[in-house]
Amino acid sequence: MVYYKIRGGRKLYGEVKISGAKNAAASILPGLLLINGICRICNVPQIEDVHLTIEILESLGAKVRWLSSDCIEADCREIGSRTVLPHLGVRMRASHFFIGTLLGRFGEANAPLPGGCVIGMRPIDQHLKGFDAMGADYAVDGEMVRVSVKNGQRLKGAEICFDMVTVGATMNLMLAAALADGVTVLKNAASEPHIVDLAGFLNAMGADVSGAGTDEIIIKGVPSLHGGSYSLIPDQIEAGTFMAAVAAAGGRIRLSGIIPAHLKCISAPLRQMGMEITEGEDSLMVSRPGELSGIDIVTRPYPGFPTDMQPQMGAVACFARGKSTIVETIWEDRLRYTSELRRMGADITVHERTAIFHGVPHLIGASVEALDLRAGAALVIAALAADGVTQISNIGFIERGYHDLTGKLAALGAEISREAEERDTEEDH
Ligand code: EPZ
Repeated sequence: MVYYKIRGGRKLYGEVKISGAKNAAASILPGLLLINGICRICNVPQIEDVHLTIEILESLGAKVRWLSSDCIEADCREIGSRTVLPHLGVRMRASHFFIGTLLGRFGEANAPLPGGCVIGMRPIDQHLKGFDAMGADYAVDGEMVRVSVKNGQRLKGAEICFDMVTVGATMNLMLAAALADGVTVLKNAASEPHIVDLAGFLNAMGADVSGAGTDEIIIKGVPSLHGGSYSLIPDQIEAGTFMAAVAAAGGRIRLSGIIPAHLKCISAPLRQMGMEITEGEDSLMVSRPGELSGIDIVTRPYPGFPTDMQPQMGAVACFARGKSTIVETIWEDRLRYTSELRRMGADITVHERTAIFHGVPHLIGASVEALDLRAGAALVIAALAADGVTQISNIGFIERGYHDLTGKLAALGAEISREAEERDTEEDH
């Protein structure tokens, strides 16, 4: 078993370069399938989800190669398959973006249903509602969802109003609509930075997308998309995770390669708690001048406080003076990480979607388990500030979304390492 070993109590100092956005790569890399040409995408994070996405692209017939540590070249002119292989697709929630792209380009798509996970059911009813509105038929048989346009026609532009703000369905319908016949209007659309990034990528390749970043996005279908170059935005949540790490452990760090405007929803509560945050053009200076005070947070779609930063702020709240409350409005089961923090001595009570924290002087290092990606990040943050040594297992979740988290934190002065437990071998018995 591989695990993180962290000795807490070290303040963080120095500079960290933030990688490209995981949740922008999640839709833009599958979006390469729409393009009858060769594309170069840069600022691509070297994370497990990206490696798996590339594996799925190649299984469909794409030719993909890394040009450098963060740039890939993809040639999707020869795509033979319309089916995402189940053993690949089930390993990543975001494989449903291949449905929108295969359907948009070829009129047919088959992919495994994104299974539920520890934070919630992850349904795709809004995606399917959109495809239906655009003239596609769909069927769910067991673990696969099969979508196709009647007798080989192209998708038709439609007006679609989502029942709730959904990042995934907004992006999937943008992808499907890019090559559709006519105009598609998405109402009650999500407006996260990665939605704007997807629109930027599509338009760079010849699409006609407007309104991204608002709650109404208009996509005018074009006959085809050409190759070109594009660079992903920096990861808002990775940046926020490092901001939360300084809030818990103390110190002063500079985040570089970021877009400060994307971080305002995270900076605001941290400043309210007592953090000092100054903005540069593409950087932030973040420091903790003294003890933090408690905070009340409610997660909301962008530009509200992001649900993907909720566990990390929970870890910070464990140390903040007085009471903090966190209400999770997006996912039905995203407070499970609090049970692992309680094993470290945190004072937290959870009722339905509300967690109440009372700050304690110290957490104590313990053996804990990452229950999902951001829950794992929260445990890293708590361990950096805890007394003694913490071991975090199930780090595969963490490495799905963070590139070289241990290396970046160690460079800031944290005592953190990636260890492998000696497995008992047969001859030992
Ligand atoms: C994306 O998930 C992100 N993942 C999530 O980040 C993030 O938490 C979420 O958006 C919200 O910002 C990627 O981008 C790969 P949604 P997604 O569709 O698209 C309900 C992380 O930690 N819903 O915006 O799956 C759904 O149940 C991950 O990086 C339906 O009911 O989220 C949820 O309550 C975790 N039917 C709400 O909408 C649907 O068809 C928001 O979901 C779709 C969604």
